[in-house]
Amino acid sequence: MLSASNVLRVQRIAISRGKRALHDLVTLPGRKPIVSSGTPGYSAVSGHVVTVFGCTGFLGRYLVSKLARMGTQVIVPYREEDEKRHLKPMGDLGQIVSMEWDVRNEEQIAECLRHSDIVYNLVGREYETKNFKYSDVHVSGAERIAKIAAQAGVPRLVHVSHLNASTSSTSHFYRTKAEGEERVRDAFPAATIVRPGQMYGCEDKFLNNMASWPIWWKLNHGETKIRPVHVMDVAQALTNLMTIPQFPGTISLPGPRTLTTEYLLDMVSSLTYTPPSSAPVLPKSLALALAKVAQAPWWPLISPDEVERRYIDDVDVPGDWEAVGVTPDEIENHAITYLRRYRSAENFVRPAVFPARSS
Ligand SMILES: NC(=O)c1ccc[n+]([C@@H]2O[C@H](COP(=O)([O-])OP(=O)(O)OC[C@H]3O[C@@H](n4cnc5c(N)ncnc54)[C@H](OP(=O)(O)O)[C@@H]3O)[C@@H](O)[C@H]2O)c1
Repeated sequence: MLSASNVLRVQRIAISRGKRALHDLVTLPGRKPIVSSGTPGYSAVSGHVVTVFGCTGFLGRYLVSKLARMGTQVIVPYREEDEKRHLKPMGDLGQIVSMEWDVRNEEQIAECLRHSDIVYNLVGREYETKNFKYSDVHVSGAERIAKIAAQAGVPRLVHVSHLNASTSSTSHFYRTKAEGEERVRDAFPAATIVRPGQMYGCEDKFLNNMASWPIWWKLNHGETKIRPVHVMDVAQALTNLMTIPQFPGTISLPGPRTLTTEYLLDMVSSLTYTPPSSAPVLPKSLALALAKVAQAPWWPLISPDEVERRYIDDVDVPGDWEAVGVTPDEIENHAITYLRRYRSAENFVRPAVFPARSS
């Protein structure tokens, strides 16, 4: 079987020569043949129809953009009208189809995925709300999508979990992510489970949060080990999965380096030209108590489970990047792009300076 990078290379060569080849035709059991046409780019037609649940989130926008740029018709299920507006211009006319949905509504889910040959499930939540607990989103919601996709005869399901998903984790978030994976596998045995590490990018809750609230990253004395990964690399890996015929099993996508939160805080401080935070390291019990109080606003600042996660090292497993045809980039190559906005006007154009690496 050709690897993802080879499939992509062959496609690029064929397209650049203006020829159509066998790989432009995709046949899936019980489905109409998928024929790609047109020159590559915004107006191409890949012939694929894809549903991206969780498209309105951080990762979702980059995945939709990459899929749409290949000429794929993307169904974008949304809850809030305004949350999906930015997705519409990502594809050619008629290529981005928005549909309202509720994770508890089976009919709406079935409507959203019945024409698709791949379904991506990116739905996840960092904190629990009054209406949705972790298990509603990560377990029963994920299972519902997988079951309905299987019933509808959707050939492929890609379920996005988390690098640290584990049934024995001290974090409820990670435990429900692991439970969700099991339910998805039971309902849709050929599903591809993708486990990305902590993602960084323009709208992340990582570098932006470190720049705004360093005190919450000093927990555990900055010793927690993180394997940050660029959101674009994860989005590209998910996009490439479309061209790989089948990939049942689990794919881990950690960043290329393991870094301590102390190093990352120093990096943020150097790049933004702001002095390191002089706030004390909060004891865990106090941090948990404060996080409980922070639940009062509608949009919580930090949840107790996030505090718990700040003490958990990212798992030390090899990345499956080669299998998906992507080479992940290091955080130092991109951090300045996302952190420059935190500089004062007088420092805005100064060069990027990095601290010595701790690991
Ligand atoms: N960000 C990371 O560093 C990271 C790392 C590893 C794994 N992951 C996983 O990757 C996936 C995507 O992450 P992300 O950072 O893009 O997340 P995100 O920005 O928080 O987006 C989450 C998406 O899930 C949807 N969603 C959440 N709760 C829902 C509910 N009750 N009903 C329907 N939709 C709901 C959101 O829709 P609305 O816009 O309508 O709220 C949004 O589209 C998640 O599963 C996450 O756990 C993320």
